[in-house]
Amino acid sequence: MRTTHLLKTAAALVTVGTLVWGAHAAIMLSNTVTGAPLDLSEAPEEGRDTEAVKTFLATGTNIYNEKAVCLPKAHELFLSMCSGCHGHYAEGKIGPGLNDSYWTYPKNETDQGLFETIFGGAQGQMGPMYGALNMNEMLLVMAWIRHVYKEDPQGAVWLTPEQRSKFKPFNENASHIEPAEELLPACGGPAG
Ligand code: HEC
Repeated sequence: MRTTHLLKTAAALVTVGTLVWGAHAAIMLSNTVTGAPLDLSEAPEEGRDTEAVKTFLATGTNIYNEKAVCLPKAHELFLSMCSGCHGHYAEGKIGPGLNDSYWTYPKNETDQGLFETIFGGAQGQMGPMYGALNMNEMLLVMAWIRHVYKEDPQGAVWLTPEQRSKFKPFNENASHIEPAEELLPACGGPAG
């Protein structure tokens, strides 16, 4: 009797745990190649509860697109994790360019799609990134990719019309935001 009761309690706790974590994601996230749901519990614990991650999982919006203060860290993450394959300015190398309006997977022109591709990977050398970056870092890297977009802002469908009217296409010959290691509190770093 007692054992059964305990087992039931344990099962209920597991269910509650799953529901609580599941409740974070109001949007449905799926693997770019297979379409299978992404398992967000594979992401590191760290960087799950930042304002940006919570907002993203509720709405699909990346608030770092609007936070220029986070671009130095975003740049640093891109250089260390992505530029080896995608090029210094995301112009393309063994992986495709990420700085223009052509996408192998058209959904990458939305921030939800881009997150799904980074989290779950695509084909060949483009492996899933949840082992290398936490979810907050993925959103930072995404903001850098959006920052280096070099074409007509009208093609920047991830921006609202208002953001588009202010967006300046990236010019690799102009001066750039330098990379920086530090993770500021405004970018999901420890407060204080
Ligand atoms: C080891 C090499 C390698 C690394 C490192 C790598 N990628 Fe890729 N990436 C690729 C390849 C190859 C493809 C093409 C895969 C395909 O077409 O399915 C790709 C595809 C992509 C795509 C889809 C582009 C499109 O046109 O739809 C995105 C987005 C992307 N990578 C983002 C990133 C980001 C962000 C990082 C760093 C966090 C990264 N990649 C790191 C090799 C890499």
